[in-house]
Amino acid sequence: MKGVILAGGLGSRMLPCTKITNKHLLAVYDRPMIYYPIQALVGAGIDDILIVTGGNFAGHFLQLLGNGKEFGLKELHYTYQEGEGGIADALRLAEDFADGGPLCVILGDNIVERSIEPAVAAYEQQQQGARILLKQVPDPQRFGCPVMADGRIIRIEEKPAVPATRYAVTGIYFYDALVFEFIGDLKPSERGELEISDVNNLYLERGLLEWSELDGWWTDAGTFTSLLHASNLIAKGGANLPGPSGR
Ligand code: G1P
Repeated sequence: MKGVILAGGLGSRMLPCTKITNKHLLAVYDRPMIYYPIQALVGAGIDDILIVTGGNFAGHFLQLLGNGKEFGLKELHYTYQEGEGGIADALRLAEDFADGGPLCVILGDNIVERSIEPAVAAYEQQQQGARILLKQVPDPQRFGCPVMADGRIIRIEEKPAVPATRYAVTGIYFYDALVFEFIGDLKPSERGELEISDVNNLYLERGLLEWSELDGWWTDAGTFTSLLHASNLIAKGGANLPGPSGR
């Protein structure tokens, strides 16, 4: 399975820091944010990785990561998202890279404590459709939220005022080639973006969306509050992330 890290956007929620670099290169405790999703993929045995970036500082990724040698990779692939079209718009750029095969997609600001290997194995068993990973959080209204009945997801709402459960849809997704067809059918949301929740709802409508609960803690780091939270979690030594810096 190939991996895609979505690290585009202009990072407007994190100005003025994002005036001088990409959001995904800001420090989370002792290393740049993007190190965590790379490590999550590599730690799950996924070593063919595409980074989708964008904005004014795309060159910083090359300067920092090069071919990914620090992570034991032979090479890294990069592509560039124009503007701020949203997560699904960024994913569209991975179509040639995917070459019809399955993908593990992770948002560049998502950090997990434990290995995602069990989810990779579950998706390999599943063979078609999509799989999302859920996690109970204190503030689900900040995320995509599932509406559930009898343990099955019936709908996903993006940032609802009143979430139906405590579950958030984490930014780790598994897709087959159908995803690119679905992205082609999307219309921009109220925030002017192609929403990944709309993609997941299209899989749901076809009965092709499975889910599992993520083990260990999970956080995003895309706001100043969550960045600090993420740094504190890492500093406490909770993350099972063998670091390229040898921490
Ligand atoms: C995005 C997705 C949301 C998901 C979240 C995970 O939100 O739209 O569904 O729950 O990532 O981090 P955003 O970061 O764009 O607010």
